Amino acid sequence: MFKKVAPYIGEYKKYTVWAAILMSLGIVANVMPYFFLYQIISPLTKGEQIDLKFILIRVAAVAVCELVYSFAYVQGLTFSHVSAYNTLKNLRISLQGKLEKQPLGNIQNLGTGRIKKVFTDDIDQIELLLAHAIPEGIANIFIPLLIVVLMFIINWRLGLLSLVPLVIGLLAMGMMMKSGFEKMNDYYESAARMNNTIVEYVNGMEVVKVFNKDGDSYKRFGEVVRSYRDFTIAWYKVCWPWMAVYSSIIPCLALLMLPVGSAMVLAGTVTLDKLILVICMSFAVGPSLLKALNFAGKFPQLDYKISELEKLMEHPPLKEGTSEFKGANKDISFENVRFGYGDEEVLHGVSLEMKHGTTTALVGESGSGKSTLAKLLVHYYDIDAGSIKIGGQDITDMSLKALNEQVAFVSQEQFLFNTSLYENILIGKPDATREEVLEAAHRAQCDEFLERLPQGIETLAGDGGKQLSGGERQRISLARAILKNAPVIVLDEATAFMDPENEEKLNKAIDEIVKDKTVLVIAHRLSTVKNADKICVMKSGECIAQDTHDNLLLSCPEYRKFWDASVSASTWKIKEA
Ligand SMILES: Nc1ncnc2c1ncn2[C@@H]1O[C@H](COP(=O)(O)OP(=O)(O)OP(=O)(O)O)[C@@H](O)[C@H]1O
Ligand SMILES: [Mg+2]
Repeated sequence: MFKKVAPYIGEYKKYTVWAAILMSLGIVANVMPYFFLYQIISPLTKGEQIDLKFILIRVAAVAVCELVYSFAYVQGLTFSHVSAYNTLKNLRISLQGKLEKQPLGNIQNLGTGRIKKVFTDDIDQIELLLAHAIPEGIANIFIPLLIVVLMFIINWRLGLLSLVPLVIGLLAMGMMMKSGFEKMNDYYESAARMNNTIVEYVNGMEVVKVFNKDGDSYKRFGEVVRSYRDFTIAWYKVCWPWMAVYSSIIPCLALLMLPVGSAMVLAGTVTLDKLILVICMSFAVGPSLLKALNFAGKFPQLDYKISELEKLMEHPPLKEGTSEFKGANKDISFENVRFGYGDEEVLHGVSLEMKHGTTTALVGESGSGKSTLAKLLVHYYDIDAGSIKIGGQDITDMSLKALNEQVAFVSQEQFLFNTSLYENILIGKPDATREEVLEAAHRAQCDEFLERLPQGIETLAGDGGKQLSGGERQRISLARAILKNAPVIVLDEATAFMDPENEEKLNKAIDEIVKDKTVLVIAHRLSTVKNADKICVMKSGECIAQDTHDNLLLSCPEYRKFWDASVSASTWKIKEA
């Protein structure tokens, strides 16, 4: 049952064991007072004389038992929490390790909301199971067992009698677990669906509002919330009858003892004082056993939850080598590269050579696979077939660190950390001096908007860079890439921010970055395309032509069409302006 959690508990297992021992001791201390009570009542029922000292000693013993109980229980809880939180820490670190080995693209696909939920909420739910269910569950099951054994020792008939409600209760519990299990997967899946939809709903709020999609989006939200309610109620409906049976029968032990035990006293098979003791003890069985059974129902969740967490990270890890970069130069070659995000192939055998120090432009319609090809060069995903090499060395042969030292990637979607813009640029080269950072910002044409910001380059970027405009965000990313000064540059130009003024600035910034580098640029700007050493025309995941601008105009009708459309769009833009 604890197979999945065992590797994460590790050395803290002893704390859980101690927690269970201390809690059991606490519960024994909680049961002991019945004996002292018995010692006082027994002589009284027989009409024997007892002195005050005898009574006071027992009363003091009861007080000591209560103290021991409080101490053992609190100390037990402390140990169980030490173990639980260390296990959660191990679980988080291990998941982080797995996450780090995942292809970056898969991480992006999971989404930050989902990942945050896994690392915080889902793992926190395990705390209840580890810190309470295991040690308290064990302690509470131990006590009823002990009491039943004691009852057998006091009087075997009464012992046997005590088993009747316990057996019925346990059978009902078993039935509940059996029927509950069948529905549990549906129930958890529905809970997961609801959580994911809520995360998506919150993340997509901006789009929802702008496009007046409140109605649609709320409909989906409402559907999953209602379906969660239905699954929960369906689950409880199956479990409730059995729950009612065991939770009403188990505490009935004392009620059963009273009439049968009285008859036995009258028949002379048991003495009155022993019956009183057994009845007193039977009061302690019910609550403990109910608590234990309640926790027992939670044990299976533990493995379920951990395997769910592991499943999320179960994509094969990225094929990452350990070598340094050993390439002869910075030539890049894609050879017959095939790749699909899922089952459907997106790139169908793309081959492309890029010579050291040249600029290659990728052009083609939206969805033709340009960004995908760029992401493959920075090893966001493993390819399905073919190879990608830099200077003759396969990128899967080198470590990601080595690859990252060679390549700077400015992607279509820019992410900025919510630290200062200065620190965001510094990521490009952590040991850069302040002058170098400012110089990079200057070359990336950031000066004009940095001057406008209240704290200049020390302004916080906002969550994910939201305080800046798209064009500004992209220029900060360019500054980062300029500072990094990697020999290979991959530039996925964003089209969205191309107002003429911004385009002019971006042109300048890009000209700065591409000097003497091997550059792969996904270009939407005519000047970049025209001046590229080579242009690769992409169509539906294939590279249908590659040549210079002039040659392609003559030989490739697709390119001609693209060029004509771009030229008319740009003249249209100029006329409008
Ligand atoms: N993360 C992803 N998961 C699944 N499919 C994806 C993912 N990213 C892209 N695709 C699919 O792969 C194909 C190629 O997408 P890609 O982003 O490479 O196009 P693109 O040429 O860069 O388009 P654009 O010019 O609009 O940026 C598209 O059909 C797209 O739907
Ligand atoms: Mg793209």
